[in-house]
Amino acid sequence: YVIGFQKNFGEELPYDDEFTGLKERIVIKFSHVVAENSPKGLAAARFAQLVKEKSHDRIEIQVFPNGMRYSESTEVAALQRGEIQMIAPSFSNLNAIDPAWLVMDLPFAFENQAGVDQALNGQLGKRLSQTLEPHGMKGVAFWSNGFRQITNNTHPISQPADFVGLKFRIQPSKVLERQFEALGASTISTPFNEIYHNLETGTADGQENTISNILTKRFYQVQRYMTISNHSYLGYAVVFNKSYWDSLPSDAKLVLQEALEETTRWNKRETNENANRLSQLQQAGDITITRLSEDERMLWRKRLRALYPEFIPVIGSDLMNMIQGP
Ligand code: LMR
Repeated sequence: YVIGFQKNFGEELPYDDEFTGLKERIVIKFSHVVAENSPKGLAAARFAQLVKEKSHDRIEIQVFPNGMRYSESTEVAALQRGEIQMIAPSFSNLNAIDPAWLVMDLPFAFENQAGVDQALNGQLGKRLSQTLEPHGMKGVAFWSNGFRQITNNTHPISQPADFVGLKFRIQPSKVLERQFEALGASTISTPFNEIYHNLETGTADGQENTISNILTKRFYQVQRYMTISNHSYLGYAVVFNKSYWDSLPSDAKLVLQEALEETTRWNKRETNENANRLSQLQQAGDITITRLSEDERMLWRKRLRALYPEFIPVIGSDLMNMIQGP
């Protein structure tokens, strides 16, 4: 009677009880490495909220931000072991699984976010997602952050020659390593949450990242110069443990898919805010910003796109043809 009463008055039970057939509460652990107020951190929180609402509290997404549980070097294995069910690694962190992901790191491969979206919503996105399945992972969405910029501590950088002799912290990616080598610089690959310390202690002179990551991790406190170069793209694959995903009841999958679609659309708008974050960054810190002239940008582009041929055997010419042409 009580249940009937609640149903009649539209008051929904959080989950069915023993009278109606017990449905288990679902808890999904979602680990990521960036700040809660970055595009990925905000998307994760919004996704959790949407899932809570849409499932009437039956599904809980527990978000672990800032690499508090796992760094990017351990989160993929933790997902595969099933210790966590969901991650959103950046593309650069997936090339250890399959070198196809290196295509997304290529410098000057995309002119703008629309170019990235077109590629990821089309054949390229499909091919990249397919690489995950043999490794026990299921790609469910792509989230964006934005284009990478350069920061450093020694002098303003506007010409390719300005890189010579400097050391840059990079994500684990042969493309990123070769990119800096082509500019006469050296690299060190460290976890995201060690960058601040690397820059503070001089382990690296500089790094490349999106405006939102530079702002939310306060790299402006330990870097003097920043160049708006938009030289490559930083985005994320949203990934589930595949056997966990397959085992979910279909109504739960539906809720998750709906919430993912809404979050992905919202994340696109949030990413566009990177430009506004530049003024926040200028207000927060004492960092000198260099903007490239069109000629300078063309010089960088020419120098860095010269790396493409060496990656054809690694990435495959079919995938390389799916990024924006020369
Ligand atoms: C990094 O530099 O490691 C980050 O960009 C990682 C991330 O998830 O944004």
